[in-house]
Amino acid sequence: MALSYYSVVFMALALSAPLAVLAGDPDILTDFIIPQNLGAENITGAFFTYTGFRPMFNMNMSMPMPSFMVAKASMAEFPALNGQSVSYAMLMFQPDSVNPTHTHPRSAELLLVVDGALSVGFVDTAGKLYTQDLDTGDMFVFPKGIVHWQYNKGTKAATAFSAFGSASAGLVSVPVTVFGTGIDDTVLAKSFKTDVPTVQKLKAALTPPPKKAHDASTAETSKLQNLTTIKSHLTTLQSFSVIVFLTMAALNSLSILAFALLALSAPLAVVAGDPDILTDFVVPEPVLGIPFNVTGDYFTFHGFRGSFNRSAPPHESFNVTKASVAEFPALNGQSVSYAALSFPPGSVNPTHTHPRASELLLLLRGALAVGFVDTAGKLYTQDLAAGDMFVFPKGTVHWQCNQGSGPAFALSGFGSAAAGLVSVPVTVFGTGIDDTVLAKSFKTDVPTVQKLKAALTPPPKTA
Ligand SMILES: *[C@@H]1O[C@H](CO)[C@@H](O)[C@H](O)[C@H]1NC(C)=O
Ligand SMILES: *[C@@H]1O[C@H](CO)[C@@H](O)[C@H](O)[C@H]1NC(C)=O
Ligand SMILES: *[C@@H]1O[C@H](CO)[C@@H](O)[C@H](O)[C@H]1NC(C)=O
Repeated sequence: MALSYYSVVFMALALSAPLAVLAGDPDILTDFIIPQNLGAENITGAFFTYTGFRPMFNMNMSMPMPSFMVAKASMAEFPALNGQSVSYAMLMFQPDSVNPTHTHPRSAELLLVVDGALSVGFVDTAGKLYTQDLDTGDMFVFPKGIVHWQYNKGTKAATAFSAFGSASAGLVSVPVTVFGTGIDDTVLAKSFKTDVPTVQKLKAALTPPPKKAHDASTAETSKLQNLTTIKSHLTTLQSFSVIVFLTMAALNSLSILAFALLALSAPLAVVAGDPDILTDFVVPEPVLGIPFNVTGDYFTFHGFRGSFNRSAPPHESFNVTKASVAEFPALNGQSVSYAALSFPPGSVNPTHTHPRASELLLLLRGALAVGFVDTAGKLYTQDLAAGDMFVFPKGTVHWQCNQGSGPAFALSGFGSAAAGLVSVPVTVFGTGIDDTVLAKSFKTDVPTVQKLKAALTPPPKTA
């Protein structure tokens, strides 16, 4: 009975409001979207690379700086993110500074503290408050569109990275939106059950938002760069404090057209990554009969502490630590996840694809050579320095390689809670596909196929 009731509700929703099932950004029908001012000849590895975070990685900590700063890498700053459903922000908190109450209308936020400590919180749509104290290496997920904040209560600066499952998550500052945009005093007084003088006092305290958010962020970046001096050989993240927030950029006409066509012809095909959810979060079924206790701790993941522990011995071979829905159940329905990638000198993350999300890799330490092949067979490669970012479009074959003499460490954000992994060598040569099929596919002979097969350990049965 219940099932058929929900089926009817679902069908009614699907028929009446197909756009409501979009997880985040509309999906694209190409590997990437070329901006209108560029031609295919302009698209090289550099197009997929963002270097705007380098100043923060090279900042002189003795210089004066704002109490709270955000550096963002969304579609507005990094056009290659268009259609890739993923973006980053870097948040830098001086002691006793706050990132004020705000929401992101188009994405959940997965915040990872990489230096210092932060107190965070959000309020769900039922009005329940969740708070948590985070230490270095901890991450916390803020569900899409809900009011949240971060606070550095300590005496040491703190730095965090946030990944979003949208190329343009958007930002609604609650104080500025409510008290800084000219909403009628009486409306606000009645809304807040207070008097007009109190509303006017609150309004006077809040500067109206800048007319053009993008120009403002450019000015902030240039101010930031003026504060910056290049500190060479900075190998570890320091106690930065800069921030940038996401501004929303209008979708270009191409993606709007593609979106409209998709919406008309095949509504279910337009789901960008994960299906959207109709609740703030989805609590999994009890494990071994023990229900999940949904407190601030439920939204927190401690599994990256080892990756951010600088006294831990370095990995001897390429290592990945994942924070996807399998390791961190609170990501269920939030369309965002992380992986921490550790590369000793000479190591490679072999050719693979992620079927359900683009990957936005941010190199935190060392140097990496990266590359991918698009579906037209074109190869794109790039050499990355610390602070650089590279986007690998969804489902394309890609790899990373540490050709340097020191270790490299990267953080990858995905616009899915379960991006999936297809290892190309293992999938092709390690799963028992018939030798003749492979020999014909690779235009080679059966002995060569058997040699390749012998070298690749079959994947574990449960994977
Ligand atoms: C794009 O490529 C064309 C042809 O090589 C070149 O003339 C033009 O300057 C390039 N545009 C940009 C923005 O790099
Ligand atoms: C950092 O700034 C301080 C104060 O201005 C200055 O004395 C110092 O030389 C700078 N350090 C570097 C590495 O530029
Ligand atoms: C940064 O410095 C340059 C050159 O010193 C100056 O022209 C520019 O106005 C400064 N920008 C800001 C935002 O202070």
